[in-house]
Amino acid sequence: MPHQMPDPVLILDFGSQLTQNIARRVRELEIYSEIVPHDVKLSEIKKRRPRALILSGGPASVFEHDAPALDPDVLKLGVPVLGICYGMQIMAHALGGSVEAAAVREYGVTGFHPEKGMGTPWKAFPDSSPVLMSHGDTILKLPSGFRVTGSTRTTPFAAMESQKSRLYGVQFHPEVTQTVQGMEFLRSFLSEIAQIRPNWTLGGYIDRHVEEIAATVGSDHLICALSGGIDSTVTALLCHRAVGKRFQAIFVDNGLMRAGESEQIVRDLKTLSLPLLPVDAGKIFLDRLKGVRDPERKRKIIGKTFIDIFRKEATRRKKKSGFLAQGTLYPDVIESVSHKGPSSVIKSHHNVGGLPKNLPFTLVEPLRELFKDEVRRLGKELGLPDSFIRKQPFPGPGLAIRVIGAVTPERLRIVRDADRIVREELDGTPLASLLWQYFAVLLPIQSVGVMGDQRTYENVVAIRTVMSQDGMTADVGEIPYTVMSRLSHRIISEVRGVNRVVYDISPKPPSTIEWE
Ligand code: XMP
Repeated sequence: MPHQMPDPVLILDFGSQLTQNIARRVRELEIYSEIVPHDVKLSEIKKRRPRALILSGGPASVFEHDAPALDPDVLKLGVPVLGICYGMQIMAHALGGSVEAAAVREYGVTGFHPEKGMGTPWKAFPDSSPVLMSHGDTILKLPSGFRVTGSTRTTPFAAMESQKSRLYGVQFHPEVTQTVQGMEFLRSFLSEIAQIRPNWTLGGYIDRHVEEIAATVGSDHLICALSGGIDSTVTALLCHRAVGKRFQAIFVDNGLMRAGESEQIVRDLKTLSLPLLPVDAGKIFLDRLKGVRDPERKRKIIGKTFIDIFRKEATRRKKKSGFLAQGTLYPDVIESVSHKGPSSVIKSHHNVGGLPKNLPFTLVEPLRELFKDEVRRLGKELGLPDSFIRKQPFPGPGLAIRVIGAVTPERLRIVRDADRIVREELDGTPLASLLWQYFAVLLPIQSVGVMGDQRTYENVVAIRTVMSQDGMTADVGEIPYTVMSRLSHRIISEVRGVNRVVYDISPKPPSTIEWE
């Protein structure tokens, strides 16, 4: 029984790593948005009654024979359309303009010069406003009915419009913070051109979903896979509210948690009065991971083992339940869509994607429409303490993907001890509040050292700290040298088996946050 969501702004995904940023930016403007694959059927678009369409960027060139295409009829729906980067090029291409490889490729922040006297939405940009460019192709001829609305030093057609058809295009990326007026431009396009009034807030989300879960589950029982993170905890609170005594949370301790974490999770969840069944399954996870070095295999094994144990525990219960609740978020849902689309899958996150097809449960996923920051706001409304809301994300596969190479009890001990020290030094400091995550990684190499006049040949630990809004992109944490030096000193002297500590200075992209 689907609940009523506002008519969306639909974002057609042509494979850009920034597509989710567009959706989040639109929601920050309190306008509901959804991402769909670029080749979604015209009838499906019409059914969703979009208020506006945004065509995302993408890695292809419109003139490649297998480039993701755009049905030109999408541009004739009478709904305002904004094409971004590849989205602008494919719009021009579909309407008879021409796109070619640029003589000079344009990457990075550059000044945008709107044409003189431009109205909405271009007046968001003062002359020479910084915009982020990232393109190797460029438009050489505009389609008929269009005019150029702005340029940069190397790109004469950096923006275009056909006011009559309400079609707009920008070669730059308004969805990133480097484009300083990007949000104002999107706001102007959505509220002044598309005439959308902001109405997407989380007020009402809780009541709506509690009602929906209660109606879906009826008189049956509902179990929930609880990891102790914010997503599954908020899911559990909604479900518990909806079905009361017929709710059971199950926490599978996979033996891959950080120091003291399982005990802490069980204590925290008790304070929330959630009925919790902890299952100690460390041995079976470690047995199955024995000798496995490949990161994707590790992830798959952990996902499958988790489900095996969960299924066993669930079916062992006297009161059988037909429903399983999960803290699946919108980015997980989009990721499974883009499997088919042109975006490449970087890692198999262990969430809904890992569930086998023949699961004997109907899934309940009340957070499927939300981004992480929206779940945090919801958690606050549900009365979760700040310590919960501010919890760092911790990956489902746990420390197994922070022990690079084979996972053994000894290597887990090393990374767990090093991680504990990183947390002891940073938790609760003003610096920590600026960081999205901080943790230790155990590398699969040994290096020569000298300790107490003895030659050593021991392990290397890397420290990773990142700043991020949503985990999709990340900057390196700027931690003072004194803190780094203290971390290094403590890890080398206190963690047996380590004689070297290094600091990871790679942003995402091109690196990812976790090493595996
Ligand atoms: P990456 O390494 O892909 O991580 O840049 C982005 C964010 O996701 C977290 N992460 C995971 N979370 N299951 C999760 O629930 C996973 O399998 C997983 N892998 C990575 C990571 O910690 C970071 O915050």
